[in-house]
Amino acid sequence: MRMREVKNGIYWVGAIDWNMRDFHGYDTPKGTSYNAYLIVDEKVALVDTVKEGFSEEMFMNVSRLVEPERIDYVIINHLEKDHSGSIEEVMERTKGARIYCSTRAKPGLVDKYGERWPIVVVNTGDTLQLGKKTLRFIETPMVHWPDSMFTYVEEDRVLLPNDAFGQHIATSQRFEDEVRANIMYDARAYYANILMPLSSIISETLKKLPSLGIAPEIIAPSHGLIWRKGPERIIRAYEEWSQFKARGEAVIAYSSMWGLTDEMARLIAFGVMEEGVDVRVYDLGVSTLSSIMTDVLEAKAVIVGSSTQNNMMLHRTAEFMAYLKGLRPKNKIGAAFGAYGWAGGAVKEIDEGLKAIGLETVEPLSLNHIMTTLSHEDKKRCVEFGRGIARKVKEALK
Ligand SMILES: Cc1cc2nc3c(=O)[nH]c(=O)nc-3n(C[C@H](O)[C@H](O)[C@H](O)COP(=O)(O)O)c2cc1C
Repeated sequence: MRMREVKNGIYWVGAIDWNMRDFHGYDTPKGTSYNAYLIVDEKVALVDTVKEGFSEEMFMNVSRLVEPERIDYVIINHLEKDHSGSIEEVMERTKGARIYCSTRAKPGLVDKYGERWPIVVVNTGDTLQLGKKTLRFIETPMVHWPDSMFTYVEEDRVLLPNDAFGQHIATSQRFEDEVRANIMYDARAYYANILMPLSSIISETLKKLPSLGIAPEIIAPSHGLIWRKGPERIIRAYEEWSQFKARGEAVIAYSSMWGLTDEMARLIAFGVMEEGVDVRVYDLGVSTLSSIMTDVLEAKAVIVGSSTQNNMMLHRTAEFMAYLKGLRPKNKIGAAFGAYGWAGGAVKEIDEGLKAIGLETVEPLSLNHIMTTLSHEDKKRCVEFGRGIARKVKEALK
């Protein structure tokens, strides 16, 4: 059996969802885990539960340590169903345990379950003594929902931040230093697709933590692996992501019916590379939005393309634009391109969309072709379009 002790009497007792592939619309090719933690002292606290349907695994983990009846406190850091979904079973198996949650979480619990259990509402700075260990609560509204809070085990300097610092990855290992996978990629994918729109709040929350005496040695999130060796790595990454610190990279995402916009995309990429700037090219017909956004998070330029169909951009580009808008990226250069047959429309739509999102746009590139291939002159325009964007990227990062 793999070691599950996070530190001195703090144990992982969650469940692994090996086959989760779509997490509220976000692509999770590696599955995920629902991390619950048991803190065993004179009193026993369970921090978070697991998604409904996964409680058996959680109870098996708990039972290896203590009888579930011994749980005195159930801490609900976050109401979302993947964490509070087993609370009813937990409360049925404990003997009069008390629930601890934030002010904003209580109405949600009462709404769903009624006033069946004693609920203690906590605010930032409130503590709960388990014996030798002290749990401190920090409200973190909108990291990731209004009710979200962190729990900190003071004596062990273990932070249980629920949905912050997570990754969607299902593994038999529990600690980030035990896996060979590039865990920072998974953490970035998670941040990009779930937390990006909350960046300014995350940045403020991170700044506040030291003044609240939170200096974690271990960060144990509610999904994926536990940051045991040097949690500074993930904290630093969150600081950079939440401030939209970009790398000198460009992302091209496009859709095409008959290949002209596809050819434009490759020529634009050629131009970007010629200027020495890295680029990733995604045909929206064969790429997932989640993987593209993972690169968009750190890219300086987002170049979006579509040919015109029925006066509009193609539906895959429209879907990309809608997803991008919701994630509210900041501090990026935007560019639109595409081919059209007669009156066009797609490129203008994309350009306006990028402006509305708040990207600093360059003059778009729209080429008029019905059946013909790109002329030599048009090919040169595409390459030059890419080079111009790359020069702007380099200028912005000087
Ligand atoms: C079903 C269909 C609808 C189209 N509708 C328009 C249109 O409304 N306006 C326009 O300018 N071109 C329209 N076109 C022409 C394409 O935009 C044009 O052929 C373009 O070069 C295709 O680029 P692609 O190969 O990247 O798809 C349409 C083409 C198709 C196949």
